[in-house]
Amino acid sequence: MNDDRVEAVADLGGGVAMPMVGFGTWRLRGNSAYESARYALETGYRHLDTATMYRNETEVGRAIRDSGVDRREVFITTKLPPGNAGRERATIEASLRDLGTDHVDLWLIHWPPGRGASPRVWEQFIQIRDAGLTRAIGVSNYDPAGIDELVRTSGQRPAVNQIPWSIPQYDPRVLAAHRERGVLVEGYSSLKGTNLRDRNITEIAAAHQVEPAQVVLRWHLQHDIAVIPKSSHRDRIESNFALSGFTLDDAEMTRLDGLARH
Ligand SMILES: NC(=O)c1ccc[n+]([C@@H]2O[C@H](COP(=O)([O-])OP(=O)(O)OC[C@H]3O[C@@H](n4cnc5c(N)ncnc54)[C@H](OP(=O)(O)O)[C@@H]3O)[C@@H](O)[C@H]2O)c1
Repeated sequence: MNDDRVEAVADLGGGVAMPMVGFGTWRLRGNSAYESARYALETGYRHLDTATMYRNETEVGRAIRDSGVDRREVFITTKLPPGNAGRERATIEASLRDLGTDHVDLWLIHWPPGRGASPRVWEQFIQIRDAGLTRAIGVSNYDPAGIDELVRTSGQRPAVNQIPWSIPQYDPRVLAAHRERGVLVEGYSSLKGTNLRDRNITEIAAAHQVEPAQVVLRWHLQHDIAVIPKSSHRDRIESNFALSGFTLDDAEMTRLDGLARH
């Protein structure tokens, strides 16, 4: 494995490439959302993760415009709140208005709406993608059975499933299930879900002279899991993106895998 994973992009099909390291924006609101997203873009992030529910699309959009980075170079993800099922078109139009763009790059069903996977919502997603309002579509917080239901009814698979993922949540069976289905796993709450003071992590971090959070994020990338760390601190925004200067060897990967609860 080479050490360029931070520049790595995932092929979502249809010519859509998603940077494997994005910037998470949950709980960032108002000026803090604007400043953090601006700084993330200045640092080099080219993938921003937002959602209708985060109520920061306006600030994220303004940060992109003010950054001077070409819109086409920034991968934007936003999400449909499950309560907006049945109002898909109006919801994405509001997201686009707030973000100040004519399309997003990835639109996710934030959670399965109601019971089941909601093939009717998925049908709307397909139409909205085909109309060009989003370049790719996917889901979040789905299990493989829910993904199978969408594929069975529409013949089209989600490009991505954004799910909680962290070292304690490591489950090779879940990863394999997504891989078999051609669905990219994008992990969320990767830092929050991991004890950054765990001795196994701090020792590996010390050996590479990096922060424990960098070890956690690098571990994800080496498992081909996209990451979207959030921070409102500049030093962390920077270090969470500095993942290319070191590689975890097989023994270190196995040691970290061994911290899983499964
Ligand atoms: N699809 C979904 O249902 C869903 C659910 C949750 C999250 N998400 C997405 O995933 C993103 C990431 O998840 P998350 O925000 O829950 O958690 P996270 O990125 O795992 O962790 C964020 C927390 O870790 C701290 N932190 C960040 N960098 C750090 C570092 N280098 N060292 C120590 N602590 C650090 C942050 O504090 P400071 O800000 O103070 O630095 C914050 O408290 C979200 O922002 C959102 O975009 C999606």
